[in-house]
Amino acid sequence: MQFSTKNIDVVAQATQCAVVFALEDKLLASAKAIDKLHGGALSALIANKDLKPKAGHKRWITLAPSKRPYQRVLLVQLGKSDDKKASKLKSDNLLAALSSAATALSQSPVKDATVYIDDLFSQNITVEHNGTTADPSWVAEQLAIAVQKASYRYTETKSKPDAKPALSKITYASSNAARVKGQRLALVRGAAIGSGINYTRELGNLPPNICTPSFLADQGKALATSSSSALTCRSLDHKQMEKLGMGAFLSVAKGSSEEGKLIIMEYKGTAVANSKPHVLVGKGITFDTGGISLKPGAAMDEMKFDMCGAASVFGSMKALVEMKAKVHVVALIAAAENMPAGNASKPGDVVTSMSGQTIEILNTDAEGRLVLCDALTYAERFKPKSVVDIATLTGACVVALGNHACGLYSNHQPMAEKLLAAGTFSNDKAWQMPLWDEYQKQLDSNFADMANIGGMPGGSITAACFLSRFAKKYHWAHLDIAGIAWQSGAKKGATGRPVALLVNYLLNA
Ligand code: BES
Ligand code: MN
Ligand code: ZN
Repeated sequence: MQFSTKNIDVVAQATQCAVVFALEDKLLASAKAIDKLHGGALSALIANKDLKPKAGHKRWITLAPSKRPYQRVLLVQLGKSDDKKASKLKSDNLLAALSSAATALSQSPVKDATVYIDDLFSQNITVEHNGTTADPSWVAEQLAIAVQKASYRYTETKSKPDAKPALSKITYASSNAARVKGQRLALVRGAAIGSGINYTRELGNLPPNICTPSFLADQGKALATSSSSALTCRSLDHKQMEKLGMGAFLSVAKGSSEEGKLIIMEYKGTAVANSKPHVLVGKGITFDTGGISLKPGAAMDEMKFDMCGAASVFGSMKALVEMKAKVHVVALIAAAENMPAGNASKPGDVVTSMSGQTIEILNTDAEGRLVLCDALTYAERFKPKSVVDIATLTGACVVALGNHACGLYSNHQPMAEKLLAAGTFSNDKAWQMPLWDEYQKQLDSNFADMANIGGMPGGSITAACFLSRFAKKYHWAHLDIAGIAWQSGAKKGATGRPVALLVNYLLNA
């Protein structure tokens, strides 16, 4: 997808499709100009109530060839204004409108479109986003993300895949020449974040017989090759992990015929040569059967999504590469398959982690924390500025927060606040959960330094408590993304969250 921006007039721009907006029953400036030129075609839609007042509702208008430069107009509803003067708009409504416009474009034969949403700012309509006023470049960034997301199609394992969208070029009409530069950068950012989101979705959606730990290691190498040496990738195999004493990680991988991998990527943007890195750690269980503590059969296929933490780290790295971000980030992917087998771990087994702490495995289905704890110890060698792990860790987190926010835990409050702010900014929300000492004793074991489960109460919290014992040497946060990483039912598929949150965190950390 090609994105550009310029300060242009709607009447003069040659484009296959002009995307214009209405705020309830008022046409924004560009819509008004087109309306005037084409005999009131747009205002008639509103007068006849053919354009409903709900944000995201839309109408196509096809124009006669003589009426070009644009062949079609897409009129999109921004919804009800937040005040009587029609000068305030809630960001939820704006985002619904952008996503609806992007979806409509991606399903149409239109190859290039020009979007006139910046009219909002020339008309002094403020966009309210979680208690703050969004600026014009935020809107441009969100448009680019929406277009990228709408353009994604899963095709890899279908013999008759849906056609790819025709859309390949978006022009962002800036209503003020002074804003063009900022909006151009925002489009680059948004396009890269959207591309990272789609990569995360693709890795999540791929079936578990394709997307194995070694497949993920190959993805890292491919990403490195595409990055013109800003990103490097290597991975550790069983032997190397044994040498490092990663007994917790290996206890998960050993029941599978797929070898576990610790994948290490390092991205260094320009001008960050000697800075300490931020580290991302992704849970990459390419399939979670539960192991000997076998899961029930219903919906077990969804446990192919148990590598979505890892996928979000891959997506974030891809976004950084594509936007040429000036940051220094190390990514660690703990990739393994959790299978029952004659040589699999059993409840009651005690293993020694790389940190030297021993763990009694009371439930082999609490495997994520076992691979992550050794990756967290490994992270120490990078002397990180901060470490964020991202994991589809507990069903309990889904019970606690549902499907709208991921659970956030941290041992450093300023870091927690940066992540919360990144989530709010990017509409990829996190909610902070407690990491109080009182919960730690649920992990007591009679036979090891700790157990790998803490019982039913506060299951997401005790999982975070477990990880915190391996993250004492740096500022650390844990995102439990079990409720947000994928959707079930008819829309089954990976969401690409929390790439937007992570990238915004890294750009501001
Ligand atoms: N990958 C699962 C967590 C999960 C389950 C995410 C369902 C999304 C939906 C994880 O490995 C797991 O099995 N966790 C157990 C922990 C328990 C044994 C303490 C869980 O949540 O049941
Ligand atoms: Mn599990
Ligand atoms: Zn799991």
